[in-house]
Amino acid sequence: MQNKKIILAGGTGFIGQEICNYFGEHNSIVILTRQLKQQKTNAFGQEQLHENIRSNIRYVKWDGINEGDWMQEFNHADIVINLAGKTVNCRYTEKNKQVIFDSRTNSTKAIGAAIRQAVKPPDLWINAASATIYPHATNGARDESFTDFSTDFSVQVCQRWEDTFYAQRTPFTRKVALRMAITLGAGGVMIPYFNLLKFGLGGRQGSGRQMYSWVHAEDTCRMIEWIYDHKALEGIYNCSSPGAVTNNEFMQTLRQATGHVIGLPAYEWMLKIGAAIIGTETELILKSRWVMPTKILQTGFKFKYPFAKDAINEIISKTPRKKYFLF
Ligand SMILES: NC(=O)c1ccc[n+]([C@@H]2O[C@H](COP(=O)([O-])OP(=O)(O)OC[C@H]3O[C@@H](n4cnc5c(N)ncnc54)[C@H](OP(=O)(O)O)[C@@H]3O)[C@@H](O)[C@H]2O)c1
Repeated sequence: MQNKKIILAGGTGFIGQEICNYFGEHNSIVILTRQLKQQKTNAFGQEQLHENIRSNIRYVKWDGINEGDWMQEFNHADIVINLAGKTVNCRYTEKNKQVIFDSRTNSTKAIGAAIRQAVKPPDLWINAASATIYPHATNGARDESFTDFSTDFSVQVCQRWEDTFYAQRTPFTRKVALRMAITLGAGGVMIPYFNLLKFGLGGRQGSGRQMYSWVHAEDTCRMIEWIYDHKALEGIYNCSSPGAVTNNEFMQTLRQATGHVIGLPAYEWMLKIGAAIIGTETELILKSRWVMPTKILQTGFKFKYPFAKDAINEIISKTPRKKYFLF
């Protein structure tokens, strides 16, 4: 994809920066952010964005709720990608729950309004969604045809987020909700994994039998490009590699790729205490996430990283050793 104007709401985060790296050299990107400060390095300690990419990116302030000057950017934009939302990696207190809901629904509504007022609206609006919408699965993978959703908090977040997205009337803009699995790349979940490995705790978590659906961030970007190029595609798509593994297999692959011989397991009771201490929820680790990207495969899309081993090796190959070893 070349010479397109891409608007990235919440583009300062992990996936946003991966998208900038992928598209930024040949396209112009406008990042909507609540704070006009630019990160120069990512969590891996490398230059976050190359100079020639940085020059193609502008940062524009919005608050993720209200209309404002930022909406002018939507005139003549080609693609809008909305990634904005408070991280779910926190304790699910009532206050946090409300912000998790509101940050996703408000930003989605604000983008809908910006598209409606645009003189020439964008061709495509991709809204982040999450594969967490599918239930704890132990007897087979779920795909887009599944509709029997639970009332758990995280599932409700996903549903309300998608409902808000589909409630936005944008007749001249194609809409796709990307139900993303755990995304692997230069940052995100790899950071806590590296910290576990450093301290010899890179073993299985819980029983280790829970499934782990994942996607390499480069495949997320390739999927966005594919969806843009294939003008008939709209609706819900799982953004998950077809190669889900068990937690045990994932941790073993990670240990092999990083040269860690020993990895002590973390039992459920240890995770409960640890999660409370570091301010997160065990659901993020113990839920069995088993998802198939049936719809995108049916369109002929081919994943560059269908196997966890290849995805992890590629990420480790560009990670400084000191990130996953103490010395
Ligand atoms: N990473 C994954 O594995 C994964 C998997 C499934 C779904 N997702 C979803 O995909 C989206 C992007 O993921 P990510 O890992 O890139 O997330 P991230 O690193 O946490 O970035 C999200 C961005 O959202 C903005 N934001 C945070 N709180 C906000 C609020 N209260 N109101 C408006 N904007 C807010 C922030 O930008 P500013 O501070 O610059 O405004 C932040 O950079 C998220 O919505 C996430 O739930 C991620």
